[in-house]
Amino acid sequence: MQILKHWRLERGAAAQNNLAWLYFDKSFADQSESTNTFSSEALRELSAVCAELKTNAPSKISGLVILSAKENGFAAGADIDEFTSFKSADEAYAMTVLGNEVFDQIAALPFPTLAMIHGFCMGGGTELALACRYRIMDDGAKTKMALPEVMIGIVPGWGGAKRMPALIGAMQALDLMLTGRGVDARKAKLMGLVDVVTPRRHFINAAKQFLLKAPAPHQPAFKDAVTNWPIIRGIVANASRKQVAKRARKDHYPAPYAIIDLWEKFGGDPRNVPRENPASQYSLYSHPTTANLVRIFKLQSRLKALGAGDSGVKHVHVIGAGVMGGDIAAWCALRGLKVTLQDLDYARIAPAIKRAAEMFKKRLKLPHLVQAAMDRLMPDVKGDGVAHCDLVIEAIVENADIKKKLYAQIEPRMKLDAILASNTSSIPLQELSGGLARPERLVGIHFFNPVAQMMLVEIVESPQTSADVMKRAQAFVKKIDKLPLPVKSAPGFLVNRILTPYMTEAQIMLESGIPAETIDAAAKEFGMPMGPIELADVVGLDVGLAVGTELHKAGNPQPKKIQELVAAKKLGKKSGEGFYKWINGKPQKTDASSSVSTIDLAPLWMRMTLPAVNEAVACVREGIVADVDLCDAGVIFGTGFAPHRGGPINYLRASGKEKLLAEMKALEQAHGPRFKADAGWDNI
Ligand code: NAI
Repeated sequence: MQILKHWRLERGAAAQNNLAWLYFDKSFADQSESTNTFSSEALRELSAVCAELKTNAPSKISGLVILSAKENGFAAGADIDEFTSFKSADEAYAMTVLGNEVFDQIAALPFPTLAMIHGFCMGGGTELALACRYRIMDDGAKTKMALPEVMIGIVPGWGGAKRMPALIGAMQALDLMLTGRGVDARKAKLMGLVDVVTPRRHFINAAKQFLLKAPAPHQPAFKDAVTNWPIIRGIVANASRKQVAKRARKDHYPAPYAIIDLWEKFGGDPRNVPRENPASQYSLYSHPTTANLVRIFKLQSRLKALGAGDSGVKHVHVIGAGVMGGDIAAWCALRGLKVTLQDLDYARIAPAIKRAAEMFKKRLKLPHLVQAAMDRLMPDVKGDGVAHCDLVIEAIVENADIKKKLYAQIEPRMKLDAILASNTSSIPLQELSGGLARPERLVGIHFFNPVAQMMLVEIVESPQTSADVMKRAQAFVKKIDKLPLPVKSAPGFLVNRILTPYMTEAQIMLESGIPAETIDAAAKEFGMPMGPIELADVVGLDVGLAVGTELHKAGNPQPKKIQELVAAKKLGKKSGEGFYKWINGKPQKTDASSSVSTIDLAPLWMRMTLPAVNEAVACVREGIVADVDLCDAGVIFGTGFAPHRGGPINYLRASGKEKLLAEMKALEQAHGPRFKADAGWDNI
């Protein structure tokens, strides 16, 4: 047999029950490979292992155990670098065929097969596990199983769309395939995805015992099995399409619709789908959304890599237990850090602790884990934590003088190597560092609202911030599972600066008489997850007004209605009324659907989005962010900007610079200089 670069096959002697152990480890070939992914070479080697086991030794083998030699997980799926290097849809399709053939070989082995899953088990990793007869899963918090292909615009094409519905029923399988979400061991067992859950330290024994018994493979419960019956299949497929349509338009995101078709009409096997069918690998591969989503996936990895290294942060002290500080403290405690939370009195801290308890219960479920997280989060009215912590995060009112007064009190008490961070959303750090003895340790760590849901955190660098503090702040953000984006300290930093002209333009349009519902519908047609008028209400009109005022450029009109609403204490969702009235957390919109369907919304979204694109160009020109890719990543992960379009600059390039410049010119003539193209367009 050939020498293997990605797998290690160990054959047990008779005393060890004649089991064969197949370890997946890409670093057998290359030490720098930190994660198991399936390249075509790794797949071909797996195919050779199957052929060898099948032809040479079936009678001597009582079972095959497939496991990972890597600490971080079983397998992350297909090798995305290889996927993006394909020169044609034919090459992508060939990889699909290869994956199917190899996993079919696993499924056809003449002895029991068992996947032992720890850490992440994604995409192709899950499909390999599904091709085995049994699955055992580690019960650790980091162990997750998923078929996340939909997130990069493709289908689970190596047998996942065929084997998962057969194993656990179509309703459960479609839910996982259409959302891409991961399940932990407890959930996986409940769904029937895995046979046994056990700690990883017991894996070897568990495998031996399980394969000795070799029970009948898992069968779905009757209620799950019926969802695959031909007469029920159409009903399940249509119900799923309706669910998907609430979240994603088919022209923007074809993959979820393709997954449903693949399962309903083609037995879950992409080799059965005719090339010209919209559900085929060819169609999806050629769709612009796929390339944009794959790019976003890679940008996410790039942001994670910016958080490499050790932050040295074990104890965080958060000052200000309001909307942001309270949630930042809770998030840090959830992620295992010791947190002290300070505010003017305990009554102001109590609501944050209550919110934290609810979040811990929802996310951690098990009472002992919830209790441990609660124990890590300590109210600290006196601010004793200042003297002991490694990082202070200030999240008090957005007022430079009050913040500076606070810094003057706390700086002398901080450890010498502790970092001082502000969560300010608009005040340049230079303004805050004036009175500091050590301005080099002041950095912006700017979370977005709501903290638990927004992945991006801007790491704001003033001219005085030291490189070491920047690096440690980035590592801290990565450690709490957020995406760090280094940006320069200038008004609005990156994300708010780009979002504000878009939000402002929407409000100017509203004041000119265009209904809020129409404006929101136009933005959603462009691909925004939520319209700008609704978003303004959700963020809070007081917050939006503060940021807008900070970023207001001389000569530009400033929307009036938001000022009137804030003066009348109508702050949006949180006060029950803003641009919309809010009842039970829902904006009360008049039904615009009939009128909207007759209006061409493109000119409206063009008018709103171009100011954001123009600002993104300006940010790149001014070096607020290192490059175009990071600019797009920031806007997507910080605002949800139409992911299928790949960010503002990618949208600009895809639409054609000349075309958009002509649109800008026409808008400038109609509405004034705020549509003047930035000088940076020349270099995009
Ligand atoms: P908030 O008004 O909800 O909370 C501020 C808290 O700070 C209050 O509980 C207040 O009692 C406390 N506080 C004020 N002075 C204090 C002092 N000297 N010592 C201790 N506590 C003090 O404000 P929010 O919305 O949480 O904003 C906090 C910071 O985060 C601001 O700088 C804001 O610009 C920024 N931010 C806000 C976002 C939002 O969407 N609300 C988003 C991102 C950043």
